[in-house]
Amino acid sequence: MGEQNKVHLITGGSRGIGRAICLALASEGDVVYFNHFDPDESAAEETIGLLGQAGVAAFGQKFDISDQEQVNLWVGQAMEAQGRVDNLINNAGITMDTLLVRMSADQFNKVLQVNLVGAFYCLQAAAKLMMKQRAGSIVSIASIAGQIGNPGQANYAASKAGLIALTKTAAKELASRGVRVNAVAPGFIETEMTKTIPEKVAEAMKGMIPMGRPGQPEDVADVVAFLCSDAARYLTGQVLSISGGLYM
Ligand code: NAI
Repeated sequence: MGEQNKVHLITGGSRGIGRAICLALASEGDVVYFNHFDPDESAAEETIGLLGQAGVAAFGQKFDISDQEQVNLWVGQAMEAQGRVDNLINNAGITMDTLLVRMSADQFNKVLQVNLVGAFYCLQAAAKLMMKQRAGSIVSIASIAGQIGNPGQANYAASKAGLIALTKTAAKELASRGVRVNAVAPGFIETEMTKTIPEKVAEAMKGMIPMGRPGQPEDVADVVAFLCSDAARYLTGQVLSISGGLYM
């Protein structure tokens, strides 16, 4: 690895937005550590193959980010092997949609544990290293649901609003150490996650997008890559909406 090559950590990098982020962020000679929690390794292997074609060394690992011990091991291994960590992308997330009055405590807690508590574990582990390096960028994938709410997503919207507050607080605490912390809030992006939305609801949501089309994973990934780049060196604590104008 050359002097200018970078080390990237990405959660949920096997597919969807996470895979697109791996590909947009890493250039030839870089190293990517991504995790996932898919039932099988097929998507993760495909991501490793795509990164390999781009000259990027990629390591995929399966574990649940709501397990703090696993998170610390993962971040620690990357640091030990590479000597530094340049970027952390908190991308892994889940939905368990149902109306508020029907939502069980388990459904609420589970989504909070993965989307918010898991992101906290990753952010904390990376922040400790980045503070010592006096350099680093952290980007979390929030959601428009965390900004305006969404019927059937009380758990998910709360987790994403929490992620925004976590981002702003971390940005304030880490700014003087040279570490920038930002979030993006995607609108409707075509991935496995949005495939589970009933057709009628999905069509209605798409119909409200001013730019007239749903987003693609690459639309999000390019903004994340910008946030990690030197072009965004004076930008911290921000939440960029990537929604084709759905949120403004
Ligand atoms: P996806 O379902 O296609 O991919 C999710 C990724 O997270 C997979 O790699 C999966 O293995 C991983 N993951 C799930 N649970 C995990 C756990 N407990 N531990 C570790 N990894 C886990 O989803 P998609 O659409 O690519 O979403 C990525 C992020 O973007 C999520 O945080 C999601 O909330 C957010 N987002 C997505 C939107 C969309 O319209 N698709 C809109 C706004 C935000």
